[in-house]
Amino acid sequence: MLWSQDELPRRRAGIGSRSFKSLRFPLWTQNKARLIQAYLQLFVYITRHGTYIDGFAAPQDADHLGTWAAKLVLEMEPRRMRDIWLCDLSPKGAAKLEELRTVHMAPELKPKRRITVLAGDFNTRVFEILQSGRITDKTATFALLDQRTFECEWRSVEALSRHKTTNKIELFYFFPTGWIDRSIAAVRRPEKREEVERWWGRPDWAALRGMGGLERARLVASRFEQELGYGKAEVFPIHDEKYGGRVMYHMIHASDHPEALPLMVRAYRKVSGRPDLEGKEEQLDMIDLLRDIQDEGAADCRTESASPKPGCSPSL
Ligand SMILES: C[S@@+](CC[C@H](N)C(=O)[O-])C[C@H]1O[C@@H](n2cnc3c(N)ncnc32)[C@H](O)[C@@H]1O
Repeated sequence: MLWSQDELPRRRAGIGSRSFKSLRFPLWTQNKARLIQAYLQLFVYITRHGTYIDGFAAPQDADHLGTWAAKLVLEMEPRRMRDIWLCDLSPKGAAKLEELRTVHMAPELKPKRRITVLAGDFNTRVFEILQSGRITDKTATFALLDQRTFECEWRSVEALSRHKTTNKIELFYFFPTGWIDRSIAAVRRPEKREEVERWWGRPDWAALRGMGGLERARLVASRFEQELGYGKAEVFPIHDEKYGGRVMYHMIHASDHPEALPLMVRAYRKVSGRPDLEGKEEQLDMIDLLRDIQDEGAADCRTESASPKPGCSPSL
């Protein structure tokens, strides 16, 4: 169990104003699924129900299923995530999702939830999910968009953001900071250019090349707020090594819910955490802590060209 009873949110009020202990520690790629799980566990404890959409859901590493987000979300206890949509384009990946579904829908578990596996392109199938009638304004809904590079089209993100008229569908959008420069530099053919434009949703995608990692991630986050109307979008770095190293992804977390950001900071801290700091009285303002997370490692840890430096590895 990731969270003890004492750590779970007790009251709606208070979470947002609570301050957090200091963190100087990165979260690495192996733990990104645990971050999603830890966050959802906290959030669903408040909402008492949830719908989970995983657009790019097959396991990235079939040999290490402990890093598979869909699996960790399905394993969450209590089972408050009641409606689960898992999509993947690869036939092998979709077969893995079917296997996962079979395990979790076994009759002896008396499942009180629905798991729908969709084989195919999420950019098409997302419309089926939204038109299913199963996500209403009252349904707390979360979408994980764990693309590798250019697979998640902007129109899909837009459709998710527009579906609900109350709190929007919350998004965990993975932006490929670690290789975006190289990927953009390699775009030559007209079909590839069209693909990248569908991903970015605008013709100015080439301007992303050469920007600083954090600056670029914040630009993406600002689109979630300004173009899609999210109340808050923040960026969370995911590093390539356990104790530092360059940023591979920025996870952009977009939500309308006032408690979402503090809970994500808390989940990030828990998963990347410093057990040795637990229990100490060092308290920081939540926004200070968020900046601390975002600035983790020196700026040169974030660029593609930089080799890891001692300063990129926080001392334990
Ligand atoms: C980064 S991996 C996902 C990792 C997974 N979330 C995990 O926790 O291990 C990206 C996945 O997206 C799938 N994919 C690529 N293009 C897609 C598309 N257009 N629609 C749906 N899935 C797609 C790939 O087959 C791959 O399984």
